[in-house]
Amino acid sequence: MCGIVGYVGARSSVDVLMGGLRRLEYRGYDSAGVAIIGAEGELATAKRAGKLKVLADALEQQPLEAGGTGIGHTRWATHGGPTDANAHPHLADEGRLALIHNGIIENFSELKQELLDEGFAFASETDTEVAAVLLGREVRRTGDLRAAFRATVQRLEGAFTLLAVHRDEPGLVVGARRNSPLVLGLGEGENFLGSDVAAFVEFTKRAVAIGQDQIVELTADEVRVTDFEGAPVEVESFEVAWDASAAEKGGWSSFMRKEVAEQPDAVANTVRGRIADEQVVIPELEALGDEELRAVRRITIVACGTASYAGLVAKYAIEQWARVPVEVELSHEFRYREPVIEQDTLVLSISQSGETMDTLMAVKYAREMGAKTVSVCNTQGATIPRESDAVVYTHAGPEVAVASTKAFVAQITALYLFGLHLARVRGTLTAGELAVQLHELQAVPEKLASVLEESEKVAQLAHWMADTRSVLFLGRHVGYPIALEGALKLKELAYIHAEGFAAGELKHGPIALIEPGQPVFVVVPSPRHPNSLHPKVVSNIQEIRARGARVIAIAEAGDAAVLPFADEVIRIPLAAPLFEPLLAVVPLQVFAMELAQAKGLDVDQPRNLAKSVTVE
Ligand code: F6R
Repeated sequence: MCGIVGYVGARSSVDVLMGGLRRLEYRGYDSAGVAIIGAEGELATAKRAGKLKVLADALEQQPLEAGGTGIGHTRWATHGGPTDANAHPHLADEGRLALIHNGIIENFSELKQELLDEGFAFASETDTEVAAVLLGREVRRTGDLRAAFRATVQRLEGAFTLLAVHRDEPGLVVGARRNSPLVLGLGEGENFLGSDVAAFVEFTKRAVAIGQDQIVELTADEVRVTDFEGAPVEVESFEVAWDASAAEKGGWSSFMRKEVAEQPDAVANTVRGRIADEQVVIPELEALGDEELRAVRRITIVACGTASYAGLVAKYAIEQWARVPVEVELSHEFRYREPVIEQDTLVLSISQSGETMDTLMAVKYAREMGAKTVSVCNTQGATIPRESDAVVYTHAGPEVAVASTKAFVAQITALYLFGLHLARVRGTLTAGELAVQLHELQAVPEKLASVLEESEKVAQLAHWMADTRSVLFLGRHVGYPIALEGALKLKELAYIHAEGFAAGELKHGPIALIEPGQPVFVVVPSPRHPNSLHPKVVSNIQEIRARGARVIAIAEAGDAAVLPFADEVIRIPLAAPLFEPLLAVVPLQVFAMELAQAKGLDVDQPRNLAKSVTVE
């Protein structure tokens, strides 16, 4: 949640910060603010409740004095509502110090009481201001921002990335990181900090992921990274793999529309370089040797939201190919029960951002309990891959729209590659069987492109249904997680009540919801395969149709058996059963996006949400 940016250099820091915040706005968009040390050494701040645009307008009317040092923040409210007063930066030391924060300071109440008892006053309801006031007190005591900052972070518990500036140190930004992301951008005569590389990639692609419990001291010419006690830490830089233009709308009306359209590339790029001689090649997995993969007796997938549905799809494939039991659990549920984790359990986490706190905590816990951990992640340098034994990166490119689309298909792709690799190592698929699956996977991008060509029909349907108040989604086998994903997309984008069910479960209760006119999307499996569930799904359709449901079937091209029972049919190309979800999800994404647009809603930044959920 919350995006943070820091800059020291010769450019106008307000421009750098506002540009960075624009790219990080997906992380939270309740309020925004900047603090700049001007050329005269004065500290000036501007902050506003509302989206970044409100702050941008305020700055246009009343520009801040230019200066080369600054910090900026875009907020997703936790403690205290989205008001001007609660917006960051928070000031202390009589307005000479400004501080921004991403995370939650868990011991803020006791620290606040301590400071109140000493006579300090507070202007906001936030946990962040406590850190600012504490830092102000330490600066007064030590006369040294660096030492004061170290002393302050040692008092804090919880999750925090903090950045601070002080007018007495005009060319310095200090930052600290615990359980929230912080990435450093290395420039020539200038340096940057951001919640992710998008904050500065237009200026430099050389980046360093700041590690857990580390402090960074940033000047224009020097970067010093230490632990919380001040002992220097060695850091390793990496090259950002994508261009600034990838994080721009590039002529599309929304990021979501752009990202939906990028799905063929997201799959192709995730596969690229990972298939050679009809085998899967994933060098990142070398950290886990074949011997260790053979020894795995159980896989537990941990993830949240859309990522967990990618995990559910993969469960069917990995069990079928590698003959290992796979369970999929929401990270927050997994972490706080007493799961059975043994040395031969592999915990596979899935996270687009690589920062989701619930998933991070699940991974840490699994490691503590002795499990091997592999993460599937879309963000270089993120925390979850760093905390895992190995990582399989998805190469979907930056996903900016809050609702996940291209990351989802890339996650399934990476999980399938992992599953096929596991099957080879464990000898559960023959070379021929493996080759067939790999060809299917390689054919997905082209098929996705042809699904996208059908989007106009889905858009029309969405426009006709703009007044709908409730939509149900049904599927079986790998179609079931797609039903769940279709419902989630509609809820989060169009604010419509939606539920996904396993089609076989309907008659055990939910069928009572069906009344005349109730729209129901049904993901229909291909009829062409031995043991196809097609006849069972068609029976389920008949059951709801008999009760007046309005059926919208997502069915394979040429499947005529659904025609008599469906009010609308959306066609997807022929694919092997396990590959159908990669195609069937697209019309559901498009439907949710179009319906939200028909209702005049912001599809990139739905209400109450943030892209990277770094609180538990
Ligand atoms: C829904 C959506 C969320 C995320 C979830 C996990 O469209 O985007 O449900 O999938 O918050 O996020 P990551 O993958 O970053 O861990």
